[in-house]
Amino acid sequence: MAAPQVPGELLDRLATARHVVVLTGAGVSAESGVPTFRDAQTGLWSRFRPEQLATVAAFESDPPTVWAWYEWRRDLVGKAEPNPGHLALARLEALVPRLTLVTQNVDGLHRRAGSRDPIEFHGNLFENRCLDCGLQADDVPRPCPSPPRCIACRGWIRPGVVWFGEAIPAAALARSFAAAEDCDLFLSVGTSAEVYPAAGLALAAKRHGATLVEVNPLPTSLARHADFVLSAASGTALPAMCDALARRVEVNIHAR
Ligand code: APR
Repeated sequence: MAAPQVPGELLDRLATARHVVVLTGAGVSAESGVPTFRDAQTGLWSRFRPEQLATVAAFESDPPTVWAWYEWRRDLVGKAEPNPGHLALARLEALVPRLTLVTQNVDGLHRRAGSRDPIEFHGNLFENRCLDCGLQADDVPRPCPSPPRCIACRGWIRPGVVWFGEAIPAAALARSFAAAEDCDLFLSVGTSAEVYPAAGLALAAKRHGATLVEVNPLPTSLARHADFVLSAASGTALPAMCDALARRVEVNIHAR
């Protein structure tokens, strides 16, 4: 896919932004070969729907099966590498005064690309904690074919992701909405913008006066609220945007 033309007005707003917030979704990792949640159901797992596996009730009724599904997903993600979209977002941190990155992805690829402090809204595939007492389990080996037990209470160890019906961790929720309400430019990248509360971040930013930008090869319901829509894959649109912004920032420095 060809790199999109980045509108000059968008570059002006990026170059003068005080605080940029970026929300990413599964589309950002698509070019790394990480299947989206629903596409991930292939092979052995095709007879299960994610909704049958990604719930507390599913884990409580069959911990080994749910654990095995997460092990399989960890294997898939472990083989993936950050793509130019992840790398561009890490680079963007150095091009604006303040950047808050919020991701719905649990694959850890933003950190691996160099983003310093992404807010992992839906948790992280590679973290684990006790289902019963909540104790963080940092020493789970990989691979780990069956779910381990908590060293404190003997409860089952579960993956540190947000399951259907579970609340977003309070700190992640509070930090993300505070950032959205404070920012002057909000980038929604590679997300269908359908899963709440994450999808509410862009609208909260817009309500508070931020410029709203969508990067997605297919327009979402957010597009009609957006000030700019880059209809392209994040792996081409984000590097193009960063390159153009870097040139703009350099010109501004020399003009001073
Ligand atoms: N670049 C940018 N966007 C892309 C690309 C790409 N290369 N490829 C696909 N997309 C877009 C699709 O057009 C779609 O709008 O990424 C979006 C992916 O949408 P979803 O699969 O719904 O992913 P997401 O928005 O992250 O889902 C939110 O729902 O499945 C649950 O908890 C899971 O975190 C996930 C949440």
